Amino acid sequence: MTSTIVIGAQWGDEGKGKVVDLLAKDADLVVRFNGGNNAGHTVVVQGKKYKFHLMPSGAIQEKKCLVAAGIALDPNVLKKELGQLEQEIDLVIDPRTQIIMPWHNALDNAKETAKGKGKIGTTGRGVGPCYADRASRTGIRFCELVDSEKLKEKIGTGFEAKEKILKNVYGAEMPASKEEIFAEYNALGKEFASYYGDVSLKVSNALKEGKNVLFEGAQGTFLDNDFGTYPYVTSSHPTAGAIFTGVGIGVRPIERIIGIVKAYTTRVGEGPFVTELEGKLGDEIREKGKEFGTTTGRPRRVGWLDLVLLKTSIRLNGFTEIALTKLDVLTGLEKIMVCTEYKWEREKIQELPADLEKLSKCKPVYKEMPGFEMDSSATSFGQLPKEAQDYVAFVEKELGIEAKIVSIGPGREETIVR
Ligand code: GTP
Ligand code: IMP
Ligand code: MG
Repeated sequence: MTSTIVIGAQWGDEGKGKVVDLLAKDADLVVRFNGGNNAGHTVVVQGKKYKFHLMPSGAIQEKKCLVAAGIALDPNVLKKELGQLEQEIDLVIDPRTQIIMPWHNALDNAKETAKGKGKIGTTGRGVGPCYADRASRTGIRFCELVDSEKLKEKIGTGFEAKEKILKNVYGAEMPASKEEIFAEYNALGKEFASYYGDVSLKVSNALKEGKNVLFEGAQGTFLDNDFGTYPYVTSSHPTAGAIFTGVGIGVRPIERIIGIVKAYTTRVGEGPFVTELEGKLGDEIREKGKEFGTTTGRPRRVGWLDLVLLKTSIRLNGFTEIALTKLDVLTGLEKIMVCTEYKWEREKIQELPADLEKLSKCKPVYKEMPGFEMDSSATSFGQLPKEAQDYVAFVEKELGIEAKIVSIGPGREETIVR
């Protein structure tokens, strides 16, 4: 049995949802350990599209799905997602999971508006303010959501503090009254009480018993609160190490750590992006790749594949392999560029610099590769056009890692497992 971690190697939206769905077939448990409904994971099965923000993407394979303590959970979003699925879901939510309250969304948006041009470009889902409350030790957890007395007490203190900040700092209003919020969240707590379970304990036991646990990361490595392009990052840790603290399991080796790598690069929101393509070519790839946010619908910024970013990502996460996705999107281009290093003043840069000012001044050094024509019908690597095979081989050689999965379309079957 092998346990597996699936991690976004770039800035998110690499196609983790699709790969998790694929791997979930052989998993006993599928666990989400970071982020909240800022994530948008898409799974396409027999032409039917499922979009998950909170539910682990193993849900369609009818696996046991677990929401760990490291998650910021918006119960209204979860309710909607559960409503979308035809089948009953075997879901467990850890009592320590932080709850996104309506004031978190209001604060997220008020803060962004106040920042003006300097905004981060958050998803506006209240994830940042929710984690800020966790760090300040004023958050509301799932074990309080399901307990009317405790919920009332927590909303009592939380509401007033947040109302003051919204009003006095941002000139904004609370989205609802204290009584309305209590009534709504108390009902949600009652509805979700049956999902209450110690995810930390369940996953620890499953690992001890040699079960196959699949850890599903959300967002991407360079949105990591410490190692991403700070401050243009999210407030959780989308890197592999976060499974230990996000789930509450002892540090141990995990057999498979898969970095999901899009065959080019995208990012949503603000922040530096060395290989960004502006203009016609960027628009063309955006349209072909349907690069519009699953959560917010915003157009994603698009650029060439960046090996400096990926080398750093491999090091930060300890990937044992990569899955290369959306190779089909590159079809029809005359030539394809791959960034092999950056140039900063006279220096050659091989690792992503921590200093954002330095990063913004880095220029990409490109290797030019010939384009190719392909569709999504290949069932083996050998059936891909030679130039597409060469592109994958070049990436593997430069990164010193194998692409064991190559995805050539959104559908579950449009995948080459090598
Ligand atoms: P976050 O957690 O939000 O970062 O998302 P994610 O990594 O799960 O990716 P998301 O589903 O947001 O975006 C990937 C998009 O690409 C989805 O619309 C997928 O259906 C689609 N997709 C995945 N793999 C492929 C592929 O190989 N080719 C094409 N054309 N589309 C793909
Ligand atoms: P937040 O997580 O909503 O606070 O947003 C912070 C940054 O992370 C913004 O640039 C968002 O666009 C980005 N972000 C958050 N979640 C995702 C995701 O799932 N995919 C891609 N970008 C994301
Ligand atoms: Mg997404």
